[in-house]
Amino acid sequence: MKLLETVKINQWNLQSRVVMAPMTRSFADQETGIIHPDTVAYYAKRVKHGVGMIITEGIAISPEARGTIGIPGLYMDAQTEAWKEVTEQVHQEGGIIIAQLWHVGRLSHSAITGGIQPVAPSAVQANGLTHRVGLPYEMPKAMTVEDIRKVVQDFTTAAINARLAGFDGVEIHAAHGYLIDQFHFPWVNFRKDEYGRNRYLFLEEILQAVSDSIGSEQVIVRFSEHKDDAPLFFWEKPEEEIKEILEVFRSTGIRIIHPSARSYQKALAKHELTLHALVRKYWDGVVIGVGELTPEIAEESLANGEIQLAAFGRPLLSNVDFVRRIKDKKGIKDYNSKVDLQYLK
Ligand SMILES: Cc1cc2nc3c(=O)[nH]c(=O)nc-3n(C[C@H](O)[C@H](O)[C@H](O)COP(=O)(O)O)c2cc1C
Repeated sequence: MKLLETVKINQWNLQSRVVMAPMTRSFADQETGIIHPDTVAYYAKRVKHGVGMIITEGIAISPEARGTIGIPGLYMDAQTEAWKEVTEQVHQEGGIIIAQLWHVGRLSHSAITGGIQPVAPSAVQANGLTHRVGLPYEMPKAMTVEDIRKVVQDFTTAAINARLAGFDGVEIHAAHGYLIDQFHFPWVNFRKDEYGRNRYLFLEEILQAVSDSIGSEQVIVRFSEHKDDAPLFFWEKPEEEIKEILEVFRSTGIRIIHPSARSYQKALAKHELTLHALVRKYWDGVVIGVGELTPEIAEESLANGEIQLAAFGRPLLSNVDFVRRIKDKKGIKDYNSKVDLQYLK
């Protein structure tokens, strides 16, 4: 099976094309943002059973980047130090590990950020409640240009820290309605300045700054149509939107992209193609597929060249030995969110 074959992507030798999708676990210490010691085994075990690449849970780039409790950070030395054990163990088991860098923007509350008012492109409050804690999203502060520069710098510092911690690269989380995506989102970006006229400028500046400091070949970017807080949102002109975002990746030297779909096989609301098929039409670099993939769907999409890597989220929570189960043709256990916590180990 192509899915289980080794592959070289950029400078990375992967033991399979199976990627662990980024999944927030909320197990870090809320005060310090230092990972829980069990995090080491949690990732290393999945690699031991054959996962080629881990993309970690979203990691905060600053205290105000956090949208729920227990989010680990990469903005303090002690946090960076603690991650070293994870990367060492994953490497020892033959895996590649990428740190997902995250800022939630307005999808937060000052009770979570340590008293700091959440920020957004414009002062527009989101509907809904923060994950796990259940606090209503707070009215955000509209970012000044100085705030924007600080966030660009925070992403860069976190990326440098990720490399110091031994990560093989970083994934910039520009999906799901979080801060970077809030700039793309016409319901939230009413800015009259250049960040409003060019909704992708903030993303471009972050990708450029991070690439300049750690090398563009170490950078993956995740984007999506769907926003966690706006289930009814869809792109009016998906083809235009995708062409525009891919141009930003090209201009900043990014070669590996991670378009995020809730369901890989479902066509976009306003297009006959799926997200990944539409992306492939305009992109000749590496694409990571994701969204309710099964080993069979992944295999077909790898074989026809639509994707080069296949990411699995929930199946890797409920099956620590997911890759082995595919090899041995054993069944895959279903994910059950009600008993999710027991899957940590
Ligand atoms: C518990 C859980 C936590 C998640 N946390 C994140 C996250 O931190 N960052 C992110 O980009 N996506 C996150 N996602 C989305 C997953 O990366 C993935 O795209 C999604 O689960 C679809 O893949 P699947 O159908 O194989 O589970 C999360 C999903 C789950 C189930």
